[in-house]
Amino acid sequence: MAFRAEVPAETALMALDGSKEIFRDLAPITGLAASFRTIDFAGGTDMTKTAAITGSASGIGQAAAQRLLDAGWTIYGLDRAAQAAERQGFKPVHCDVSDAASVTAAFAGIDAPLNALICCAGVLRTGLMEDMSIEDFDLVLNINTRGTFLCAQKALPLLRAGVTADNPSRVILLSSLAALRPKVVSGAYAASKAAVTQLTRVMAAEWAPSGVLVNALAPGTVDTPMVRAVSDPTASKGYRPSGVSPVGRIAQPADVVDVMMFLLSDGARYVAGTTIPVDGGTGAAFVPVGSNM
Ligand SMILES: NC(=O)c1ccc[n+]([C@@H]2O[C@H](COP(=O)([O-])OP(=O)(O)OC[C@H]3O[C@@H](n4cnc5c(N)ncnc54)[C@H](O)[C@@H]3O)[C@@H](O)[C@H]2O)c1
Repeated sequence: MAFRAEVPAETALMALDGSKEIFRDLAPITGLAASFRTIDFAGGTDMTKTAAITGSASGIGQAAAQRLLDAGWTIYGLDRAAQAAERQGFKPVHCDVSDAASVTAAFAGIDAPLNALICCAGVLRTGLMEDMSIEDFDLVLNINTRGTFLCAQKALPLLRAGVTADNPSRVILLSSLAALRPKVVSGAYAASKAAVTQLTRVMAAEWAPSGVLVNALAPGTVDTPMVRAVSDPTASKGYRPSGVSPVGRIAQPADVVDVMMFLLSDGARYVAGTTIPVDGGTGAAFVPVGSNM
């Protein structure tokens, strides 16, 4: 049941983040004076809902875009792949996230405050460290790590413009179980995702005072084109996805999007700087070869 209370703006902001400092930091952004305003303890349903999603042409990013479109959000979908524009509320933006000029132009073209940025654009290249080409190593780091940094940095002014007293803006980055428990034959990918997890921590600490909450998700194996492309160990130089989790299946994109929806909700208003595994328990404990599990 919704519970609403009229409180002074300063108290509202203290309730939001537990610190009087936040009032001083947010005041120039939100234009708040010491007036009265309403806290919605049931969850910020009256916010303007606009998000930028990278990697929206496929897999997890595409599923996230569709879920938010279904919920009435406006979505700027950034991808280097072609995207259809016919969905109501969907604005495709051609962007190579690893290219600074492309990312700058993409966010300069967004003429609305953002309530959320979801960074799903990513690539996987496999190979033993001794064999991996420098080109593949650079590609993985440039898209997964540099691209994530560039998008978050260029989106930040729009995210700050979207902050209101009862709705912090949200950033959700895509790390991976590989960041927490790397696998052989995917060292560059693991390094790129470990870097995303560390960026998440530092951005969260730097940006939370201005009302922007940064978190990451660390999925295990999710059934998407990225994983299907490496499902043949011969073609993928011996790489094997983590596969079926202790839950008994691999994840579908919806399993990841459900946790995104939590991070976008009012219930996650005090969550910042964390990387949440969405892996069905795959990373929880080592399962020895030959185990009955
Ligand atoms: N699928 C998994 O098992 C899994 C597990 C953990 C983490 N992740 C991460 O989740 C994210 C989404 O992965 P997915 O499985 O949906 O992959 P996917 O291959 O289905 O989709 C990735 C999207 O990113 C886009 N993209 C790639 N490089 C780009 C660039 N330079 N600029 C703009 N767009 C670019 C692609 O065009 C594609 O639309 C990735 O960051 C991935 O590393 C996936």
